[in-house]
Amino acid sequence: MIFQQLEVSQEPKGIEDLEVVNETAAQPATPVRRSPRIGLEQYYSEAGPDYAAWSPEFNMHFGYYRAGANPLRREAMLEQMNAEVLTRLQLGAASEPCLLDLGCGVGATLRSFSRRLPHAWLVGLTRVPWQVERARALNQSAGCSERVRVIEGDYEDTTLPAGEFDGAYALESSCHASGTDKGALLAEAHRLLRPGGRLVVADGFLAGGRFATALQERIYRKLCECWVIEEFAHLHRFTERLEQLGFTDITTERLQMRVAPSVAHVPWVTLKFLLTDVIFGKRKMTRARWNNVLAPVLLPLVSAPLGPMTYCMITAMKR
Ligand SMILES: C[S@@+](CC[C@H](N)C(=O)[O-])C[C@H]1O[C@@H](n2cnc3c(N)ncnc32)[C@H](O)[C@@H]1O
Repeated sequence: MIFQQLEVSQEPKGIEDLEVVNETAAQPATPVRRSPRIGLEQYYSEAGPDYAAWSPEFNMHFGYYRAGANPLRREAMLEQMNAEVLTRLQLGAASEPCLLDLGCGVGATLRSFSRRLPHAWLVGLTRVPWQVERARALNQSAGCSERVRVIEGDYEDTTLPAGEFDGAYALESSCHASGTDKGALLAEAHRLLRPGGRLVVADGFLAGGRFATALQERIYRKLCECWVIEEFAHLHRFTERLEQLGFTDITTERLQMRVAPSVAHVPWVTLKFLLTDVIFGKRKMTRARWNNVLAPVLLPLVSAPLGPMTYCMITAMKR
C-alpha cells in the first residue's frame, strides 16, 4: 500500500508532510516561441479563488455532456467529466486502488473519486502551495482527508516510488507540461504506474491542421500566455511519445462536442463575474485574474470548428 510505504519510507515521514518541490523546470523538448510572463504559482494563487465563479465545487475543468442531461446544469456536467475519467481508468476488481492526480487543482476530482470509491487511496499533486492548503481544508470538510492526500510537487519529477499506482490521470493539467509531446510528464506517469495500470489525460490539443489566419495564431499565443501554457500538446506527438514509452491500448477520443455545452456557459459566467467580482468585488483585479477572464473567451476562437485546437481524452495502459 503506497500510503503506508510513503509514511514509513520517506523523509519527511508522513505523506501529508511530503513536499516534493523541484525548483528546476524541465527543459522543453522543442523551442519555445514566447515564455509565459506570469508564473504558474502566481497565476493559480491569484486567480485560483475566482474558479468558484465557474464551479462551487472547484472543478477546474470543462464538463462532459451526455445525451439527456440538462445542459444548463454546469456543475453536473463538470462532475460527469470526473466520472468519465474514472470509467476510463478501468479499475476492475481492485479492492483498494491507489490513484494519482497529476495536477489536482484544489482536489475536486479527488473528492469526487473518494465518494465513488470508498476504499480507494488517492494522491494529488500540484505545484501551487495555495492549492495544497485549500485542497487540504476542503478534504477535511468533506471528511475524506484520511484517504486523500494532496502534496506540493512537480508532476514531471515527483520522487514518488515507482510502480505503485493502479491509475493516474491529468485532467486539464497536462497542457502546463513542457514540450509539444509532454514527454517528461508521460515518462513520469509511466514510471509511477504499476504494469497494467492506466493513464487518462483529458485536455485541449493541437490536432493537426493549420491556424486559419495569422490573427488566429496570435489569439492562440495570447491564450497560452493567459493560462501560463508554453504550448498545448500536439496530438500526434503526444500519442507517439506514449507508444515510445511502452504504453499500449492507446485510445484517443475527440470530445469537442461533449465539452461544447459547458463551454457555452463561458459568456454568462464571465458577465456575472464582471458584474459581481470585478465591479463590486473586494479583491484587486490583478493581471493574472484578468488573464483568467480573457482565456476562456479566446478559446472558442482557436478551437474546432474555427481552429486547430480540439478537446481529447486519451487513455493508455502500461504494459
Ligand atoms: C486547470 S488546473 C486543473 C486542476 C484539476 N485537474 C481540475 O480539473 O480541477 C491545472 C492544474 O495543474 C497543476 N500543474 C501544472 N503544472 C504542474 C506541474 N508541473 N506539477 C504539478 N502540477 C502542475 C496546476 O497547479 C493546477 O493545479
